[in-house]
Amino acid sequence: MEYKYTPKGNYEDFASGRVIYHVGGEPTFPVRLSLEIFERCLQYSNKKTDLILYDCCCGGAYMLTVLGLLKSSKISKIYGSDIDLNSLELAKDNLGLLTKPGIKKRREELDALYERYEKESHKEALQSIDRIEKLLSKEIKTSIFHRNALEISDIQFIPDIIITDVPYGNLAEWGEGSGGVNQMMDALSKICGPDTILCICMDKKQKIQTEQFQRLEKQRIGKRKFEIYMKKIN
Ligand SMILES: C[S@@+](CC[C@H](N)C(=O)[O-])C[C@H]1O[C@@H](n2cnc3c(N)ncnc32)[C@H](O)[C@@H]1O
Repeated sequence: MEYKYTPKGNYEDFASGRVIYHVGGEPTFPVRLSLEIFERCLQYSNKKTDLILYDCCCGGAYMLTVLGLLKSSKISKIYGSDIDLNSLELAKDNLGLLTKPGIKKRREELDALYERYEKESHKEALQSIDRIEKLLSKEIKTSIFHRNALEISDIQFIPDIIITDVPYGNLAEWGEGSGGVNQMMDALSKICGPDTILCICMDKKQKIQTEQFQRLEKQRIGKRKFEIYMKKIN
């Protein structure tokens, strides 16, 4: 895939575990690809600013945090949900980095680590956090909640853009007996508005078959693929 909107760059400041929190085993998502997907979704969206962004399988909210930091001029609210309660704790800490108090807390942690171990990596993280803090130009409202993405349930907002990186591999990861990504699409159709733009990132084995959405774009990148949809107009 050709990157149309996101030049190659140095995204080291956003490396997982450096300033953005990481817990072993939690998946992350490439920074440049997150930015490219966001921009591609934006091209299809009627709304260009004040966006409500949602990830229904947010994990530790690594991708949402990166987008909140680097696309803040376009986003006003970020919502994330996941089935796993431990991931939600991590997600709250990460989205906290979009606020001055969250950055202060992280800086204190990194200061303490550097004082104790004098590791180069902690010094670099402190340099990164200085640059990251400068990105906090406006406050983005954030909310993290527990939700099974496969079940139909009401949410209190209509997302403008949904970007989600679903569990990889076989359907077992979704829970036995579930209909995986297609069941998620059914559930999402109940919470999307007519203008919601939806991007699903998955591995190559997963196939979306949907009556409710029309596909706008499909791209392959390494072991992943992503597909962008919006609701079919009846
Ligand atoms: C590939 S990870 C997402 C990583 C995330 N994009 C990030 O940047 O940190 C997939 C996530 O889907 C979650 N998940 C699995 N089954 C789910 C379900 N039925 N409903 C909601 N989330 C689910 C997992 O707990 C995991 O956090």
